[in-house]
Amino acid sequence: MNLLVTGAAGFIGSHFVLRHIQEHRDDQVIVLDLLTYVADKSYLDPVEGQMQFIHGDIADQTLVTKIIKDHAIDVIVDFAAETHVDNSISDAAPFLHTNVIGVQSLIEACKANPKILLLHVSTDEVYGGLKDGEPACTPQTALNPGNPYSASKAAGDLLIQAAVNTYGIRARITRCTNNYGPHQAEEKFLPTIIRSALKDEKIPVYGEGKQKRDWLYVTDHTDAVEAVLEKGEDGKIYLISADGERENIETAKTMLDVLGKPHDLISFVKDRLGHDWRYALDSSSIKELGWEPKVSFEDGIKKTVEWYRGRYTS
Ligand SMILES: NC(=O)c1ccc[n+]([C@@H]2O[C@H](COP(=O)([O-])OP(=O)(O)OC[C@H]3O[C@@H](n4cnc5c(N)ncnc54)[C@H](O)[C@@H]3O)[C@@H](O)[C@H]2O)c1
Repeated sequence: MNLLVTGAAGFIGSHFVLRHIQEHRDDQVIVLDLLTYVADKSYLDPVEGQMQFIHGDIADQTLVTKIIKDHAIDVIVDFAAETHVDNSISDAAPFLHTNVIGVQSLIEACKANPKILLLHVSTDEVYGGLKDGEPACTPQTALNPGNPYSASKAAGDLLIQAAVNTYGIRARITRCTNNYGPHQAEEKFLPTIIRSALKDEKIPVYGEGKQKRDWLYVTDHTDAVEAVLEKGEDGKIYLISADGERENIETAKTMLDVLGKPHDLISFVKDRLGHDWRYALDSSSIKELGWEPKVSFEDGIKKTVEWYRGRYTS
């Protein structure tokens, strides 16, 4: 297979490429990444020489078309996105550019090359926040995004569904719960906890920390993307979750325990505007493909803390 992987200098995409190249040595992998402030191309150093890196924008239709032609691309795996909710609240424009216009650019490429499979990586956040006790979302649950980030991701998903219906493009969408692990951008919740705790600084936790998130170790997510690539069906949506909801305060305390730091480093700060209360996904669609998470929360947190400890203390 010839794969175009977008956004692979970021958190999840980099893990996908490292693992994919290790396990599929005959595939040709082309990475397209704009190298925004979160990206770190050095994450891909271990596979330098086994893939081609192109610096560019998925919204650049001419560039995407040229890459597809030059490399006879069979599959696009789309991780490219603006992803930080707080940034979307202060300025939604980059989110509309990449998460909406950029997705439409990939759709246009697929319209012109109908054999290409577009695997679009999306998020549970498109369903918006759930109340306690509400049932987990299924692929059929109506989208109800609660902030500009999730609204832009929902728009990208809907454009793909519309293109499947209108033009018959080949596409599969995955929606995953919160990820954690090495390579995540500094601004996100878990890296912030680790960085602050290692400096014995206060750890900001929104509101009273009672919001619930369902954490999945990053390589469990990339394994699920591989399962959808290999065994999924065109036109379907796959929901990826380890079915382990935790309050944010509980997650912060677990991490402090692993770091050997006191819980009184936790400091409650004014809640995020429109903060989603809880996300929950029904993971039966991905489990039907034989996928199961392999990394327990306890082991995943230890691996994550060790990686950031090396980064922040070296
Ligand atoms: N991180 C999570 O917890 C999580 C959970 C579920 C789903 N997702 C989804 O997974 C995908 C990847 O998330 P992540 O956390 O790895 O993101 P990230 O922010 O760490 O990385 C995004 C990457 O996309 C690149 N990029 C941004 N705009 C681009 C553009 N216009 N053209 C080309 N490249 C561009 C960036 O340079 C970066 O390398 C996103 O679609 C996100 O919505 C993330």
